[in-house]
Amino acid sequence: MTEQPPPHWLRDNCPCAECRDPRNGQKLFQIDDLPPDLTISASEELDGSLEVLWSDGHRSRYPLTWLHATDEGDGRTEQGKRLWTAADFARGIPEADWEAYLTDPAEQAAVLAAVRRSGFALLRGVPTVERQVLRVAESFGYVRVTNYGELFDVRVEPDPNNLAFTDEAIAPHTDNPYRDPVPTLQLLHCLENSATGGDSGLVDGFTAAAILRDESPEDFEALTRTPVPFVFRDRRTELRADRPLIEVDPLGRIREVRFNNRSIGTLRGTGREAFYAAYRRFAAITLRPELRLAFRLDPGDCLIFDNTRLLHARTAFEQDGRRHLQGCYADLDALHSALAVLHRRTAALDELAELFAGEGAGEYLGEAVTTAEHMLQAAAAAEAAGAPDHLVAAALLHDVGHFRGTLHGRDLMRGLDNHHSDSGADWLARWFGPEVTEPVRLHVAAKRYLCAVEPGYRAGLSAASEYTLTVQGGPMDDHEAAAFARLPGAADAVTVRRWDDQAKEPNTTTSTFDHYRPLLAALMR
Ligand code: OGA
Ligand code: ZN
Ligand code: ZN
Repeated sequence: MTEQPPPHWLRDNCPCAECRDPRNGQKLFQIDDLPPDLTISASEELDGSLEVLWSDGHRSRYPLTWLHATDEGDGRTEQGKRLWTAADFARGIPEADWEAYLTDPAEQAAVLAAVRRSGFALLRGVPTVERQVLRVAESFGYVRVTNYGELFDVRVEPDPNNLAFTDEAIAPHTDNPYRDPVPTLQLLHCLENSATGGDSGLVDGFTAAAILRDESPEDFEALTRTPVPFVFRDRRTELRADRPLIEVDPLGRIREVRFNNRSIGTLRGTGREAFYAAYRRFAAITLRPELRLAFRLDPGDCLIFDNTRLLHARTAFEQDGRRHLQGCYADLDALHSALAVLHRRTAALDELAELFAGEGAGEYLGEAVTTAEHMLQAAAAAEAAGAPDHLVAAALLHDVGHFRGTLHGRDLMRGLDNHHSDSGADWLARWFGPEVTEPVRLHVAAKRYLCAVEPGYRAGLSAASEYTLTVQGGPMDDHEAAAFARLPGAADAVTVRRWDDQAKEPNTTTSTFDHYRPLLAALMR
């Protein structure tokens, strides 16, 4: 490495168990606990890590991949987003079918990633029943309850406290700018839309702000520097938040847009003239036709959008039919978290898939099938038996312990127990609960148990299985068998064991690992 990282920065990131609680990764010291004159006494790159000896005697070890990693930020600023105009969606908008979204983690990840990157996604086929919008919010996060309740109805009302509850057009705006914190997400679920008109529009507020910054930097400045009083009042409520129309982060990147002509209160003090000039210019940009993505919500459509970025609008409608949307608010932090966890699970499944394709394609303890074929056959037998998902998963993964270094597998055939059931279960426990890991942990014990209690079972074992049986301790004695039978996972382990024993047929076609990805993803915690 050419440039030395700053000592206090490097030490603050020490991953050792003395500096961070291994149970949760949280830091165990205060920054001013470190000596002010801290320096690196010696450092060396070794085995993909940077080893550091510090001037106070502490030792740290940093993976080089961590040291050289770049940071994409928290996903809230314009950085890393796709700023768009309507033409960018000429070939369609980000959308998914509700059922597919619910059942396929890849589909769910695609929807949430679209909200993060483009600011919105449309779910289709969401059941047109009241309160269903809340289910949509709960699928990735938490409903934000407000003075309007947990949800709001957008339809024509006799005594509207808001333009939304009339048949009039609504210009592009963000919702609830008078709230701090503002709801960062909005959902609109269409229950009925048989009126003439009432089409929807979306405008990327970040694009509009970026255009203003290009065309008129001083106006952009004025909007980022003027706290605007946003207000809402009705009989029971009086809300106010003073925030700029365009908020930038400390590096000057656009981070939030609040724009709602209906709720801007009375601006006082200096700078009013400059603000109004800039406000007018920005408003005109938000109305440029090329910025407005126009579409129609049909019953069953649910739009999810970033209320700190996108402006939403509708055209006027006639009361020749009925128009009813149900909406609610939620927040981006939970959506981003759900997306990150989905990505984490996908990475884990990719790792497993790689094991099946790589090491798993190798010989399995002298059987006529590879380890991967063996486990896929066991899973197929479980599925054919109508087994619950956790047992299909256990059957599919029961021998992953052999993968933790093929050396151990060879040890087993050299007369040493590799304890693959324990190592496999421990490894799987990073992602799966005991309903999956315990049958894996006990699948060797189940063989020893069945040999003890079931006449004829041992004679049916393959030669390799018979050989490993002796290495693994032979049949249980009566006392061991009774103790095994009392274990909570014993029955499941015996069930998995029977599929395991059957799964050694050469030249059998089974599903591939990918077939099990949704099932595994649903079981991951
Ligand atoms: C609202 C709103 C949009 C619509 O209720 O805030 O913008 O399509 N409604 O009716
Ligand atoms: Zn609105
Ligand atoms: Zn097996």
